Amino acid sequence: IDTEFEGGRHGKRVEKIAKVEEKYMIRRNMEMDERVTVISHPLIQHKLAIIRDKNTGSKEFRELLSEVAMLMCYEVTRNFQLEDVEIETPICKMNAKMLTGKKVAIVPILRAGLGMVDGMLKLVPAAKVGHIGLYRDPETLKPVEYYCKLPTDIEEREVIITDPMLATGGSAADAITLLKKKGARNIKLMCLIAAPEGVKAVREAHPDVDIFVANIDEKLNDHGYIVPGLGDAGDRIFGTK
Ligand code: PRP
Ligand code: URA
Repeated sequence: IDTEFEGGRHGKRVEKIAKVEEKYMIRRNMEMDERVTVISHPLIQHKLAIIRDKNTGSKEFRELLSEVAMLMCYEVTRNFQLEDVEIETPICKMNAKMLTGKKVAIVPILRAGLGMVDGMLKLVPAAKVGHIGLYRDPETLKPVEYYCKLPTDIEEREVIITDPMLATGGSAADAITLLKKKGARNIKLMCLIAAPEGVKAVREAHPDVDIFVANIDEKLNDHGYIVPGLGDAGDRIFGTK
């Protein structure tokens, strides 16, 4: 659309429509993208509504985030391989199915990603936990790395990165780059809420990574916060400001 040619108020309207169409296309592409999964289970959506509420305090926020992470983990691990194992029930022998023993690493992005670890460990108790410390510079919105400690055999592990918020996507994309540099090959990203911009950025930077979210919200505001979102996840988990 040639907005300059259109000129004046009419031109502005055309520009606005073009932006809405672009957003619509981004969302449509995401909905058709097999590597982006929105886990819309009623229990998750119900708990997410309470998490979002500004009147929900830190204790309840933490408990619910942990519960949602556990429920999401069920879906994130859906493609884990099974093998036949002979067991004996009190009645007879049988071939049962068990996990092949593929090793898992849960890697929270500090701080807020920590809030999802306990819930996941309830379902995958043998997983090792790595940590990546990133904070978003409030001016540039660019992630700044301050810590990285990963299991030594990270290249053999199925890695699940946790972070409740996928906003511009900068933190998640950098964390994935860092993990790849350290040798990780099978990486999934699990977030509570994403902005369309964040999903697009991570998909473009890392097309091999599956993304799991409980919801893709409307947009980012001028400060890089997800709208409607839930505010600052780290502050709400840890009661800071
Ligand atoms: C938040 C959030 C993500 C990041 C998302 O962390 O937990 O890590 O911002 O934003 P992005 O997609 O635009 O990079 P924050 O930097 O506030 O640090 P914190 O978890 O220590 O509060
Ligand atoms: N980080 C948060 O904690 N919340 C947002 O909405 C965006 C980034």
